[in-house]
Amino acid sequence: MKQLIRNVKIIGTGSYVPEKIYTNEYLETIIPTTSSWVFENVGINERHIAAPNQATSDLATIAGQRAIDDAGIKNEDIDLIIVATATPDRKAPSTAAFVQHKLNAVNAAAFDMNAVCSGFLFGMSVASQYIASGVYNNILVIGADTFSRITDWTKRDAVFFGDGAGAVVITSANITEGFLAYRIYTDTQNEMLGFTIPGGGSEIPLTENNLNEQYFQMNGKSVFASATQALPKAINQVLMDTGLSIDDIDIMIPHQPSIRILQKTAELIGLPFEKVMTNMDRYANTSGGTIPILLDEVKKSGKLKRGNIVLFAAVGSGWTYGASIIKWA
Ligand SMILES: CC(C)(COP(=O)(O)OP(=O)(O)OC[C@H]1O[C@@H](n2cnc3c(N)ncnc32)[C@H](O)[C@@H]1OP(=O)(O)O)[C@@H](O)C(=O)NCCC(=O)NCCS
Repeated sequence: MKQLIRNVKIIGTGSYVPEKIYTNEYLETIIPTTSSWVFENVGINERHIAAPNQATSDLATIAGQRAIDDAGIKNEDIDLIIVATATPDRKAPSTAAFVQHKLNAVNAAAFDMNAVCSGFLFGMSVASQYIASGVYNNILVIGADTFSRITDWTKRDAVFFGDGAGAVVITSANITEGFLAYRIYTDTQNEMLGFTIPGGGSEIPLTENNLNEQYFQMNGKSVFASATQALPKAINQVLMDTGLSIDDIDIMIPHQPSIRILQKTAELIGLPFEKVMTNMDRYANTSGGTIPILLDEVKKSGKLKRGNIVLFAAVGSGWTYGASIIKWA
């Protein structure tokens, strides 16, 4: 039988984090926090910080080039570039346009997506539709953020984020492999501003009198509550969609908000925590970058085997959230 809707698989991964590191010990010297509190409560030891001359597109371009090289294709083979980011270089043009330019990927259409910390999964679900329908053959999906630029480095909430980018190249697959299910959601009914970057848009343009509005604002309790409801809901739905049980999951590659959110989620869905991959101790939360950076690391460590059932899940401001299951090809 002819396969009408094409399956989608990942054929290349790449990532990049800037060189400069802020350790918890360093943060102790600039904000009211303690290294032990941050590690015990959030699971973070250090985070990487973009240099003054590095914009989000610079991080994204390096990660993107690494993913293209890993896929063994040429930059001109890329048909579409999607950059998931909440910290674009500028309001216009898009960060994806800068990346297309820097990669000289001249045949690629390019646009940004903003679903904050769920952006990479949202971007992957959109990209997959173009592959499934046959419109495009090779798509570069990048998650990249520089939250250091929207962090108030005098406040204790500065501990949560780091800068980084991760990327994948996706293409068509045969019917037995690749993405088995996707679900994305946006729930605005419950404290939708529990995480927000209020200033700099059309609602609150920045002036010399409101520069504090450029920084992110977070209600930790509402992030925790929404994340531990949203993630299990999305995960249980993709398990139902695929007819798989939680015991069939070999590896979970989740967004990296805080270790406690992931531990609670694993407990609620019944997944042993050894199967949950983390790297927040070294990078903190890189927002759109978390899942593709972690995927790149896990793949390069040799832990990911052909045929493995891999679970992705993310939650972010809005609240956006989602999950997906892939049979690694
Ligand atoms: C951050 C988190 C661990 C805080 O736990 P909580 O019980 O909600 O804590 P509270 O904000 O009420 O603070 C309780 C105490 O913790 C300590 N504390 C909170 N933030 C701190 C920080 N950054 N550094 C040091 N101590 C801190 C303080 O002692 C505080 O007491 P105080 O408010 O009287 O000073 C928890 O809310 C959480 O994990 N939220 C998710 C955050 C997240 O994932 N963000 C990233 C994705 S958007």
